[in-house]
Amino acid sequence: MRTEQARLASGDVTTVRLNSTDNAVSFDTDALVVGVHTGPDGPRPAPGTESVDEALGGRLAATLGAMGVKGRAGEIAKFPTFGALTAPLLVVVGLGDAPEGDHDPETLRRAAGTATRSLAGTTRVALALPAADAERAGAVALGGLLGAYAFTAYRTTGEHAAPVAELTVLSGAGAGDAGAAIERAATVAESVSLVRDLVNTPPSDLWPARFAEIAEQTGSKAGLSVEILDEKALKEEGYGGIVAVGQGSANPPRLVRLAYNHPEAAKTVAFVGKGITFDSGGLSLKPSASMDWMKSDMGGAGAVFGALVAIAKLGLKVNAVGYLCLAENMPSGTAQRPSDVFTSFAGKTVEVLDTDAEGRLVLIDGIARAGQDNPDVIVDIATLTGAQIVALGWRTAGVMANDDELREEVVQAAGEQGEAAWGMPLPEELRKGLDSPVADIANLHPERFGGMLTAAVFLREFVPAGVRWAHIDMAGPAFNKGEPHGYTPKGGTGAITRTLIGLAERYAG
Ligand code: BES
Ligand code: MN
Ligand code: ZN
Repeated sequence: MRTEQARLASGDVTTVRLNSTDNAVSFDTDALVVGVHTGPDGPRPAPGTESVDEALGGRLAATLGAMGVKGRAGEIAKFPTFGALTAPLLVVVGLGDAPEGDHDPETLRRAAGTATRSLAGTTRVALALPAADAERAGAVALGGLLGAYAFTAYRTTGEHAAPVAELTVLSGAGAGDAGAAIERAATVAESVSLVRDLVNTPPSDLWPARFAEIAEQTGSKAGLSVEILDEKALKEEGYGGIVAVGQGSANPPRLVRLAYNHPEAAKTVAFVGKGITFDSGGLSLKPSASMDWMKSDMGGAGAVFGALVAIAKLGLKVNAVGYLCLAENMPSGTAQRPSDVFTSFAGKTVEVLDTDAEGRLVLIDGIARAGQDNPDVIVDIATLTGAQIVALGWRTAGVMANDDELREEVVQAAGEQGEAAWGMPLPEELRKGLDSPVADIANLHPERFGGMLTAAVFLREFVPAGVRWAHIDMAGPAFNKGEPHGYTPKGGTGAITRTLIGLAERYAG
């Protein structure tokens, strides 16, 4: 019996507020952040930096040029103000070549994130980036908050700089009433940070029952109703896929159902997340190099959980249900064997030819169960295949669907939130390769190529009849193995959480 508590979140909280002053020069803060564009004649300070430039004797552009700053996205330069501004430190972040007055929200998010990420250790940061309207002010706030994220729960030395504590978005007068946008940003950032914490938490501290407990506590506090099915209930009620994947682990599986209802809702969205708290591959064991980051294999369930919490806090006029399909995929004497057959929740039998293709086995039970909620749409989210990374790289999720319009809608929702996603097909001819000599279907396609698509073709077989369904494969985007960039840290990214929130907003009245 496990009793230890996961060390979620370090207690570091970044707050954000709005200030509509036009006077960045005398704003009382520890670091003032402004933007710079690339230009044909060298760096071009962004709109809103005029008064700052004046206070520096009109030398901002020339100084940046002398420092070799071009104004490219991702660039950052810091310099002391020697009393010319109230802030002792001026931070300049690149915005690329965006035409004047037309700043893409994602550019602003990334610039704000680059600034706060590299200002860890600074208490108060004011962001005077060009936010021409409420949406852009919200983007600056969100990027700033996400860039300030740090996972310090397991650090003991105190040598790591604390994240920025207080963010102020200096919106200027032009942004109108950005209060609601800032509030939304804070809610969204809180959910994304929660997902990042869950992904980053070592699997020794996050097993299915523990994840379910966290979902229960945090979910009900946010106003969600939470139901948890334990291994006994899962067996009795016929969740054969979740049971089969979970049976090899000393930490038994769970299915969590989170529900949010709005009395005036006209539509219901259902989200289903892959929640493998650790994927060793099972008896079809992974090589070590592929295994050491498989704590991130619950990122889909994390995104569903984070999105449901945000949807409830935002009070969206929609009904939303979320399913967390939680299991630990381990090899043992009780583990499922390649060639085992189970009966899924939908009633179809599945031959398990590869125990490392486990995500699809837990998802089909969640997808079939979601059908009972009569949703207008089912979207599943999963770190499903290495083939996604082969096809689209680390940062772009693949979107597949049984409905072309829905697929495009999901891709669009992702784009609106600044998350990269790309539509992919479900070619008919791939179904045949999933034929099993003994069961209704096999979980492995003999062809390695198009592995992201064959996984989705497998899932499609279990979608309740007549229901619009989309599948998001985010094996790469869920976890950043490389260097931090923009507002994205190393490790858990919280990917697709924002896309799901954006989708729910689209279905809200
Ligand atoms: N969790 C993995 C997929 C994955 C790979 C996620 C890399 C994140 C990064 C999944 O369960 C898996 O093992 N998929 C197999 C499927 C194969 C056996 C058909 C894969 O992609 O190799
Ligand atoms: Mn696997
Ligand atoms: Zn997996």
